Amino acid sequence: MRNMRTQLSFAPLPGIETELLAVLAADTQTSKAPDARPAPVLLTADPVLLAAAAAVLTSGEFKGGANETLLLHAPAGLAAKRLLIVGLGKQAKATVNAVRNAAGVAVRFTKPRGIREVVFALPVAGELPAAQSTRAAVEGAFVGDYDPDTYRSDRKDKSVASFTVAAPADADKTALEAAFAEGVIIGESQNFTRVLVNEPGNKLTPTILGQRAAEMAKEVGLGCEVDSTEKLHELKMGAFWSVAQGSEEPPALIVLRYEPEGVTEGPVLGLVGKGITFDSGGISLKPGNDMDKMKYDMAGGAAMIGAMRAIALLKPRVRVIAVVCATENMPDGKAQKPGDVQTAMSGKTIEIINTDAEGRLVLADGLTYAKQLGATHLIDAATLTGACVVALGMVTAGAFSNDDAIYAKFDAALATSGEKFWRLPLGEEYAEMIKSDIGDIKNTGGRWGGAITAAEFLKVFAEDTPWIHLDIAGMAWVEDSKPYIAKGPSGIGVRSILEWVRSY
Ligand code: BES
Ligand code: MN
Ligand code: ZN
Repeated sequence: MRNMRTQLSFAPLPGIETELLAVLAADTQTSKAPDARPAPVLLTADPVLLAAAAAVLTSGEFKGGANETLLLHAPAGLAAKRLLIVGLGKQAKATVNAVRNAAGVAVRFTKPRGIREVVFALPVAGELPAAQSTRAAVEGAFVGDYDPDTYRSDRKDKSVASFTVAAPADADKTALEAAFAEGVIIGESQNFTRVLVNEPGNKLTPTILGQRAAEMAKEVGLGCEVDSTEKLHELKMGAFWSVAQGSEEPPALIVLRYEPEGVTEGPVLGLVGKGITFDSGGISLKPGNDMDKMKYDMAGGAAMIGAMRAIALLKPRVRVIAVVCATENMPDGKAQKPGDVQTAMSGKTIEIINTDAEGRLVLADGLTYAKQLGATHLIDAATLTGACVVALGMVTAGAFSNDDAIYAKFDAALATSGEKFWRLPLGEEYAEMIKSDIGDIKNTGGRWGGAITAAEFLKVFAEDTPWIHLDIAGMAWVEDSKPYIAKGPSGIGVRSILEWVRSY
C-alpha cells in the first residue's frame, strides 16, 4: 500500500496553495413541486469561496446531488489551482456518512487525472459535528485512494500523495486533531484488510495469511500466535480440521491478543473470523462460474485482523482476542465427504450434508476456542452464505444475535461506522431445520432461510455467551465501482467491529 500523506490545517481557505481544493455543496430545495429547481449551496462560511462558486451554483449546471462533481479552474480569489465542488445530496440528508463518501469522491475524481494533492474543506453546516466529519473525511479519503492494482504490471501509481483536511480557524483544535488521528488509523486499517482480501488464493495461503497477521502484530504491539495441524489435533478441532484435511496447504489457527496494561477485570471480547483462503466447495464442488471469486472467502478473518490493527493503535480500555480460522476448502482423496460425521471441539457431532457449507465448520471451533481463551462476548464475521446475498443484496450485510443487549451496542456503533447491517431473526423453528437424524446437528438446513440456519448452526457453539454473527457475503466485494470506492474488496466490518469494541 502506498502511503498517502495526511494533514490537518486551520489556515484560511483562500490562501491555501494547492493543486485542488474540494468543497461540499448540498441541495437546500425542500419543495417537491414538479417545477421546483435544485438549490445547491456551498457548505462553507468563507466569502471568497462562496463568491468563486456563486455563478456556477446559480447556473443550474450543478445540482448538489450525492457524489455529483464540478471542477472549476483558476477560481477567482483563491490560491488553489482548481476548485472541486462535490455534492452531498439533499441538505436534510447531509450526514457524516455522506461526508465520508464525498471525501472518497474527491480523491477518486483526482486520481485518474493525475492530480496528486487534495485539500478538503471541512463542511460547515448546522447539523454536521466537526470532529466526526473530520474523522469520516480522512477515512473516506483512504477508502477512495485504494485501488486493487497490485498485480498489474502497467500500473501507474496514481495515488493521491497528499490529503489535507482544512478546518475553520475557530474550530476546537484538540478535538479535531484527535478525530483526525483516529481517521488515519481507521482508514489505514480498513485498507490493510482490503489488501489481504484482494490477494488471490495462490499468493495468500493460510500460512501466508498467518505471516501477514504476525508481521502486523509485531508492528503495532499485539500478541500473536499462529499454529497449524498439530494444534488443531491437540485442541480436538474436528470441525475446523474436517475442512482443512482435504488440502495440501496446511491450515493456520491465528490468535491475536490485545491486553491493555492494568486491565484485568471486565469483559474479554472475542473476535472470530472465517479465513477460507479459497473455497472450491470441496467434494460438493461449486460450479465453475464465478468460482474465482471464492478467493475472498477470508474477508471475515481479514476484517478481524484489520480491526485488531486499529484496536492496537487506538488503545481502548478492554481486552480483545481475535481467532481467525484459516484454511482452503478443496476436493482431494483425503477431503471430507457428504455423509461424514465430525466431532467439533465442543464435543457436538456434526453430520456433513454439503462440504461447501464449510465456513460454519471452521467458525464452530473458532467460537469454542475463543471462549476457552476467556472471551465473555463474541462477534464473528464471515462470507457465510449466498442466501444472505439473496435476502439483502449487495447493499446491506446480515447480522444475527442471541442477546439484545450486545446487539444494541453493535447497532449503536453503526451510526459512527456508517456501515449497513440488518438484523435477521433466529428461532426454535429454524434450529429444528438443522437437527440431524444421526448426529447432533447437520451443516445445512436446506434451501430456505439459508442465512438463518447457518446462523443457528453457529449459535449452537456460541452457547450462552452473548454473541453477534455478521454475514458479509454480499458486501465484502464491491461488484460495481462507486464514485467513492473502487470495484474489489470493500473492507466491510472493520469500522463497525472496531466501534463496537470501543463501546466497552
Ligand atoms: N463462501 C460461501 C458463501 C458465499 C457465497 C460467499 C457467495 C460469497 C458469495 C459459503 O462457503 C458457501 O458455499 N455457502 C453455501 C452454503 C450451502 C451449501 C448450504 C451457499 O451459500 O450456497
Ligand atoms: Mn462454501
Ligand atoms: Zn465459503
